[in-house]
Amino acid sequence: MASIQVSLLDYFNDCESFTLKEAERVIKDVTALDVKIPSIRARIYEGIDKGLFTKVARGVYKSSKNGCDCLLINGDGRDLSMFADNSIDAIITDHPYDLATNKGGNRDFTNSYSCFQYSERDFQEKFRVLKQGSFLVEFLPEESGGNWEYLTRIKNMAKESGFLYYAKVSWIKGNQVNNTGRKASNCEDILFLSKGKARELRLDTKKNIKELTEANINPRGLSSEEIKNILTKNNLPVHYMSGTNGMLPTAFVYNPPSKQDRIHQSQKPKELYKEIEKYITLEFERVIDQFAGSCSIGEASLEINRNCIMFEINKDIVNDVISSFENKNLNLKKIELNEEPGMEL
Ligand SMILES: C[S@@+](CC[C@H](N)C(=O)[O-])C[C@H]1O[C@@H](n2cnc3c(N)ncnc32)[C@H](O)[C@@H]1O
Repeated sequence: MASIQVSLLDYFNDCESFTLKEAERVIKDVTALDVKIPSIRARIYEGIDKGLFTKVARGVYKSSKNGCDCLLINGDGRDLSMFADNSIDAIITDHPYDLATNKGGNRDFTNSYSCFQYSERDFQEKFRVLKQGSFLVEFLPEESGGNWEYLTRIKNMAKESGFLYYAKVSWIKGNQVNNTGRKASNCEDILFLSKGKARELRLDTKKNIKELTEANINPRGLSSEEIKNILTKNNLPVHYMSGTNGMLPTAFVYNPPSKQDRIHQSQKPKELYKEIEKYITLEFERVIDQFAGSCSIGEASLEINRNCIMFEINKDIVNDVISSFENKNLNLKKIELNEEPGMEL
């Protein structure tokens, strides 16, 4: 029986390059070899040492501001294998839906993008990389006859993977009016889930008032935030409870970017991302967007001092993002990434 290395050489003989993921698929699906993924990777790295394959870096771009990095990886955001267990502070993502099957609404886009449906493995991976208590935020499309069963399946898969329901908040698309005459077309649901009991980001005002009173400072008329600031200034403990930083609203109301201002058909407003990130993360923490499109989440993150890692599979979209960031003086510079190379024959 052929070895892993020979099988790969045979299969990819006519190709310029292949990725680790593709190699795994070939070994698992095309050859009859019964091997585990770590063995496949080990043989590939052995092949690199022997000079059979050469590493080539894939497109990774970085923009930095105030000590925070925003990374854009031109690659598959479903492959989270480069991240260690319990290493990420939040995932905020908007997976690609087949807009053509979402009947109604304004679907006059010419550039479509690649779509897929989540599997259980997607949620297991999200769960694995998130820190305990951290939030997974999933944008869901407006519910329709074509997708409501899938939307239910998404929730079930998330639950089966261990996520807990935290909240569902609608994104009301301002005064945009779609042509279906159905109100639901003007909003998307945003699902907030947590890995186990939600982390403690909510100010415990009762305990904080007690702390202030015991320090002989009168808390009357002060907001929770002001009380927190006084406690911090006086080196007194600030108390938190499980939950988001503040009570989530019933709805986020933001207009989608106008046609002139957007570079992607599903582009979300930057302000919406900022608001969500402030609810579920602290400054200098790390957020992932697995399917970043316009990367407006990256811009948002840099403006509020969050680190962000974004994936986008489509090279044309990545090029549009690079130009758009350049126009905003947020240059995305190409960098080499060692962890996840492509393989060149
Ligand atoms: C719904 S759009 C995201 C829009 C984004 N939230 C914004 O504000 O612009 C989904 C994006 O995921 C990309 N995509 C599809 N499959 C992907 C994959 N496996 N990995 C990374 N990106 C993918 C699509 O090309 C598309 O640009």
